[in-house]
Amino acid sequence: MKILLRFLFMLLVIFNPNAQQTARAFTGTYGINYGRIADNIPSPDKVVKLLRAAKIKNVRIYDAEPSVLNAFKGTGLELVVGLPNGFVKEMSANADHALNWVKDNVKAFLPDTRIVGIAVGNEVLGGSDNEMEVALLNAVKNVYNATKKLGISDVVQISTAHSQAVFADSFPPSYCVFKDGVAQLMKPLLEFFSKIGSPFCLNAYPFLAYTYNPDKIDINYALFQPNEGIVDNKTHLHYDNLLDAQIDAAYAALEDAGFRKMEVIVTETGWASDGDENEPAATPSNARTYNYNLRKRLAKRKGTPLRPKKMLKAYIFALFNEYQKPGQSSEKNFGLFKADGSISYDVGFSGLQDISAASSLLSLKGIQAQGYYLSATAITTSISILLSRL
Ligand SMILES: *[C@@H]1O[C@H](CO)[C@@H](O)[C@H](O)[C@H]1NC(C)=O
Ligand SMILES: *[C@@H]1O[C@H](CO)[C@@H](O)[C@H](O)[C@H]1NC(C)=O
Repeated sequence: MKILLRFLFMLLVIFNPNAQQTARAFTGTYGINYGRIADNIPSPDKVVKLLRAAKIKNVRIYDAEPSVLNAFKGTGLELVVGLPNGFVKEMSANADHALNWVKDNVKAFLPDTRIVGIAVGNEVLGGSDNEMEVALLNAVKNVYNATKKLGISDVVQISTAHSQAVFADSFPPSYCVFKDGVAQLMKPLLEFFSKIGSPFCLNAYPFLAYTYNPDKIDINYALFQPNEGIVDNKTHLHYDNLLDAQIDAAYAALEDAGFRKMEVIVTETGWASDGDENEPAATPSNARTYNYNLRKRLAKRKGTPLRPKKMLKAYIFALFNEYQKPGQSSEKNFGLFKADGSISYDVGFSGLQDISAASSLLSLKGIQAQGYYLSATAITTSISILLSRL
């Protein structure tokens, strides 16, 4: 009887829509990057509907655009905002500016908009702007201090995402180390992140590895399709897909640098559905296969061969095709959705249909939600019946 009561109370707590939740940085395993470098994509309100219909809760944006933050208000969606690279030097040089930025762009929207993280710069280390690379650590510290001062450091996690350009060599995975020019800046950054409990954020692209080495890499290995895989000659671990190998390469580099315990999360991964002539792997069929299999891989809630207990978590790149992005055509064609909100290819999401279908799905869910209030009442009733019998 006691156990049954406890179970019913637990149900009440779980299903109570007004229950307070404590903030965690990345609560699921499947998140998405919501980039907006296109003037033809749906409005933030429609995007919210789309994300809810697709049941995607963890979202990253590359700035702190107020119209997006306002649209996310009261939705329960968990958002990591970005401090754009263009601000890194300023925030590094001036602690007051960092404080004001965090106050105006983050604190002002809490708690209604669930901002759970700030990414300070994107792919700064290993890039071409040395001044910005040197400035990164102090920008991170100033932003962290700002969250401390504003009393939000336990709900908002500070991080920065790295490209694979920070590594010297990632094959076999266990041989991976940080590049010479990067290691000196990376180590103090890792020391700080390890002190404040932040993970190592990796943008990992089997698509790029394959595109640059099509003769060395089996495309089935890159796409999580059946294949022989590789064996790491030092650890003797077997890898049946390139993403796991890329993540374990990052773990190996972290271990080499003295940070064995730090968790790696994938802040970007995806596959382009269209590209230039020198990017022949960028096809709708490959993009669908990668994203479909990736979703299955994440749903297993498993770690990698080297860190089997660290459940793999990844934010997909990206929600929309972004035609105004610079660079090769592939850059503009990573979206699960086209600019008009229709799907680029079906990756098997029940909710990932076009926007209007998503909206009708949402209203369906509204009806279900009423049903669930009813059942919550039913639970309360049965508890009072049980209590009256004690
Ligand atoms: C951050 O705050 C701590 C403690 O308040 C202080 O010691 C440190 O110098 C500050 N760091 C920066 C970069 O301002
Ligand atoms: C493992 O493979 C790498 C790259 O092919 C090679 O450089 C290294 O010597 C090999 N190590 C062992 C222990 O066989």
